[in-house]
Amino acid sequence: MAASPWLFLLCLAAAGVVLQARAQPDSKGFISIDCGLSGETGYVDDTTKLFFLPDKGFIDAGTNHNISAEYVTPTMGKSWYNLRSFAGAGAGTRNCYTLRSLVSGLKYIVRAKFKYGNYDGLDLLPVFDLYIGVNYWHPVNISGPSAAMFVEAIVVVPDDFVQVCLVDTGAGTPFISGLDLRPLKRTLYPEVTVAQGLTLMNRLNLGQTNESFIVRYPDDPHDRLWFPYVDTVTWAEISTPQKVETIDTDRYEAPSAVLRTAVMPRNVSGDIELTWPSEPTPMDPSPGYVIILHFAELEVLRRNALRELTIVLNDQPWYPFGIKPAYLYDIPAYKGSPFRYTQFNLSVKTTSNATLPPIINAAEIFTVFPTTNLGTNSQDVSAITTIKAKYRVSKNWMGDPCAPKAMAWDRLTCSYGAIGSRPRITGINLSSSGLNGDISSSFTNLTEIQYLDLSNNNLIGSIPDTLSRLPLLTVLDLSGNQLNGSIPSGLLKRIQDGSLDLRYGNNPNLCTHGNSCEPHAKKKSKLALYVAVPAVLLVVIVLVTILLICLLKQNKQGSMDNSITLKNETIMSNSTVNNVGSDSSLRRLESRRFTYKELEMITNNFQQVLGKGGFGYVYNGFLEDGTQVAVKLRSHSSNQGVKEFLAEDGEYMALVYEYMSEGTLQEHIEGTNRNGACLPWTH
Ligand SMILES: *[C@@H]1O[C@H](CO)[C@@H](O)[C@H](O)[C@H]1NC(C)=O
Ligand SMILES: *[C@@H]1O[C@H](CO)[C@@H](O)[C@H](O)[C@H]1NC(C)=O
Ligand SMILES: *[C@@H]1O[C@H](CO)[C@@H](O)[C@H](O)[C@H]1NC(C)=O
Ligand SMILES: *[C@@H]1O[C@H](CO)[C@@H](O)[C@H](O)[C@H]1NC(C)=O
Ligand SMILES: *[C@@H]1O[C@H](CO)[C@@H](O)[C@H](O)[C@H]1NC(C)=O
Ligand SMILES: *[C@@H]1O[C@H](CO)[C@@H](O)[C@H](O)[C@H]1NC(C)=O
Ligand SMILES: *[C@@H]1O[C@H](CO)[C@@H](O)[C@H](O)[C@H]1NC(C)=O
Ligand SMILES: *[C@@H]1O[C@H](CO)[C@@H](O)[C@H](O)[C@H]1NC(C)=O
Ligand SMILES: *[C@@H]1O[C@H](CO)[C@@H](O)[C@H](O)[C@H]1NC(C)=O
Repeated sequence: MAASPWLFLLCLAAAGVVLQARAQPDSKGFISIDCGLSGETGYVDDTTKLFFLPDKGFIDAGTNHNISAEYVTPTMGKSWYNLRSFAGAGAGTRNCYTLRSLVSGLKYIVRAKFKYGNYDGLDLLPVFDLYIGVNYWHPVNISGPSAAMFVEAIVVVPDDFVQVCLVDTGAGTPFISGLDLRPLKRTLYPEVTVAQGLTLMNRLNLGQTNESFIVRYPDDPHDRLWFPYVDTVTWAEISTPQKVETIDTDRYEAPSAVLRTAVMPRNVSGDIELTWPSEPTPMDPSPGYVIILHFAELEVLRRNALRELTIVLNDQPWYPFGIKPAYLYDIPAYKGSPFRYTQFNLSVKTTSNATLPPIINAAEIFTVFPTTNLGTNSQDVSAITTIKAKYRVSKNWMGDPCAPKAMAWDRLTCSYGAIGSRPRITGINLSSSGLNGDISSSFTNLTEIQYLDLSNNNLIGSIPDTLSRLPLLTVLDLSGNQLNGSIPSGLLKRIQDGSLDLRYGNNPNLCTHGNSCEPHAKKKSKLALYVAVPAVLLVVIVLVTILLICLLKQNKQGSMDNSITLKNETIMSNSTVNNVGSDSSLRRLESRRFTYKELEMITNNFQQVLGKGGFGYVYNGFLEDGTQVAVKLRSHSSNQGVKEFLAEDGEYMALVYEYMSEGTLQEHIEGTNRNGACLPWTH
């Protein structure tokens, strides 16, 4: 075994039928992607009858290229003709394919294929890294322009999707020609766990003499690729036309087409030797090797004949006993823990009692790689992915949002927590990022978010009240947008209890205390309460007293009801402008409307009564910006009564006054124009 183990020439026949593509596993759970294929349709591969999809639905970065004509050969499979590369501005250091609709916790084969073919005319063979999800997988070192290379792994997929990422290491432009995904039964390859994956170094169909005969699907239902290998100088081949079976508990399920051929040493007393050097990677200078050898007897043995063999690795025996291959049944030999050597000298020897030379039918050689890094919490991932798509955020938003830490998305803040816990998104700063459209409801699904800065974009529509449900949100900056509507009640409450710093300035259409709003179209269902600013600010006691006086005066002129049930806009318009004069902040309050729910928020459910008069109660409250106010409500026996009344009626029946600061108390008492103060109530 001389050649670099994971480098093979693949000769897939050209393809025929063209069908409509879907970015989904097929009925067998297979996904076969022809990277860089132009157009929307895929095709059925002639050899395997598998359907190859274009890669559009799996990645949103990179550009399509065709390999140079000089590297196109007649026997070359169609999927090698084109590729996707990730060059230049706009391509981040990490670019990922996302394979969806998988079964979380299941084992999958993931196979990435590469053929450079001087597609860019630069004749520069790139070196780059591959990641599976958030775990470093393997380097890709393109050895020649015509080399068809692949990197294959078996991993447990922890989510219902898996990402395959190409990472630019500054040694050439990453590209990819194809990507395959195949599901495996859970019982297969027990070395593969949630914490450890296998990378294929070689998978040998020993005794297959046809150098272009690769066993794969449908002969191998898992579509593993078994490469022919014979050392014709020292080995003799044997084969059988019969089916070679695996037993039910077999954990490797080598296909019959592979097991049907085997090699034995030409020298009856000789050994079968497989040797290879360890291949260190930048991440693992001494990778652990997992070796699986398959033995099946292919000959009917004469009486008294014995085939019995032992396996020796670097002069260490694997087993204390000999293996007697069973006729037409596979016996796989394997070791639980990986070997870490710099050189591997593997011998299959005959035992002293045996009368026949040893045989071997197949071999699989893997290195292990850790898959202990965990991707971001999946609800966070799906929310931020929706947000990314909605606003077409480019930046480096590829792969997992938070992991690995060094590749976390720009403008995100993540928490990493304890080992074994998934990272969470705790902050997003998309300020000045050219966001258009409304505020995505998916922000509400980022349940650990602490700050959200969407300032200085072009966001329109209203502010979703669901944001108030984010328990850890302390800063919400929506300033500098085109938002409209009013601050929703849930957020008002959060402002009021001091748990949220909401910034919403510079939204010209937003209905706030500092900003007048268009009157709502008269809708019976939408209750509107009028906000009033009295001509002069009053301490509540003064206010109540004066109001009582005024109302008493009024009472003599008309019915109680008339004086308190305040009808729409007519009430405020004159009085405030006249009396508040130059105080613009007060004037702006003039036409603000509140819903009953908002009043509930402002007064914290009408908790603190400041005073009571014949007209009803006056409650303490706070506006969203912290302004203290007095809310005077029409008299009713209970809040519930008020609510019912309002729901039916729709008349204005509460007034909201700014609560006077102590510093100006005296001034106001002295300067109060009683008529002015009463004006709002006398209409
Ligand atoms: C690659 O070749 C195909 C078929 O000749 C052609 O349709 C496609 O446009 C080419 N793609 C590029 C990126 O040149
Ligand atoms: C890539 O492979 C070539 C040839 O085998 C070797 O010389 C080179 O050091 C490798 N590059 C990296 C970055 O591993
Ligand atoms: C070798 O295998 C290839 C691919 O399966 C096949 O097309 C060819 O006919 C085979 N050659 C022989 C001599 O069997
Ligand atoms: C056969 O193998 C034995 C043991 O390895 C060796 O001594 C002998 O020389 C070999 N014979 C030939 C013909 O290679
Ligand atoms: C493997 O075999 C080679 C050649 O036979 C030998 O030089 C080397 O020392 C052996 N290595 C080990 C680890 O046994
Ligand atoms: C060889 O056979 C003898 C007699 O059957 C037995 O006692 C011995 O253990 C066997 N040796 C091996 C290595 O299997
Ligand atoms: C968001 O980023 C801008 C500058 O990029 C910075 O001024 C602002 O303070 C950041 N917001 C938060 C909440 O950290
Ligand atoms: C929020 O998450 C839930 C549960 O994961 C999901 O059903 C819902 O569609 C998500 N909503 C948004 C707006 O992303
Ligand atoms: C707010 O803006 C959205 C989008 O521009 C618009 O559809 C909606 O009618 C506006 N709502 C109000 C109350 O102005």
